[in-house]
Amino acid sequence: MGVVVVGSANVDLVTNAPRFAEPGETLMATQFEQLFGGKGANQAVAASLLGSSVFMVAKLGTDSLGEASIANFHSLGVDTSHVTTTGAAASGVAQITVAASGQNQILIVPGANGELCAADIDAAAPAFAASRVLLTQLEVPVPATLAALKAGRAAGLTTVFNSAPAPTEPLPDELYPLCDVVCPNETETALLTGETALARSMPTDTIEECEAAARAILAKGSGAVVMTLGGRGRRCMLVLPGQPATHVQVPPHLRAESVADTTGAGDGFLGALAHLMASCGKPLAEALPGAVHVASISVQRRGAQSSYPLAAELPPDIFGVEAGDGE
Ligand code: RIB
Ligand code: NA
Repeated sequence: MGVVVVGSANVDLVTNAPRFAEPGETLMATQFEQLFGGKGANQAVAASLLGSSVFMVAKLGTDSLGEASIANFHSLGVDTSHVTTTGAAASGVAQITVAASGQNQILIVPGANGELCAADIDAAAPAFAASRVLLTQLEVPVPATLAALKAGRAAGLTTVFNSAPAPTEPLPDELYPLCDVVCPNETETALLTGETALARSMPTDTIEECEAAARAILAKGSGAVVMTLGGRGRRCMLVLPGQPATHVQVPPHLRAESVADTTGAGDGFLGALAHLMASCGKPLAEALPGAVHVASISVQRRGAQSSYPLAAELPPDIFGVEAGDGE
């Protein structure tokens, strides 16, 4: 029993540059590469590379990028029975600039990802029935994510909602109680607390404010909040109702490593989290150190999917199972 991911698949057009260009400026860049990305696809690949059986539910265009994306899923062991194509839009593309500092700028043209709908989730019922953990994000239309969370809840899965990219409108109230785990970064945490308008969201400038905002998300009915705090020293905070918050830090030997490319680090975190819960039987709190470890490896390497580790690259205690004991 593994992981089902409902979400986006993009082709990432990645340019490395000494810095970001100013408006109107032409800048000489150093490297270009076409890679496979999209938050949903990245999360699926991260879990698959660690050894989970993974079903992807996504929409691609009937074009060469879509064909290449499906081939990429196959080569990385991700099941594509529920990846469908549409003639209504081109495959999703992300134009990414990575500055020498490791920071990125991303422009996304969702294309076919925008066509994923509730009917696609219904059709993927066999994938839900064969999985233990559901991963969702916000790079496909909200009704598709909502339908996925409902299907996941009905099928008895652990439902995980990653609120990335940051929403531009308040999410429906019915979404929160469908989530066993909500996983936002600082910016998203603030946006999720807005009651009627995003302008009324809570501050997340200090750790105390972050925790208060996470508790406001719990009050909406979600089971747990795992807040990634990449900018505050590569760690995450687990907030559960009625318990003090706990923090999970990156392992000391990885702390001093330089940051090459943060693209998809959050997706690596989510994929690893799902793998550890679905295939290693870890409770949420015990899955977090492994997820932080995977994310901290991914920021040292170029790209998103290209930066995720294989299980063999991680210390065995992360998985907490005897060799051959996993599913
Ligand atoms: O989270 C990283 C991803 O965001 C990239 O792969 C890109 O496709 C964008 O969707
Ligand atoms: Na990376």
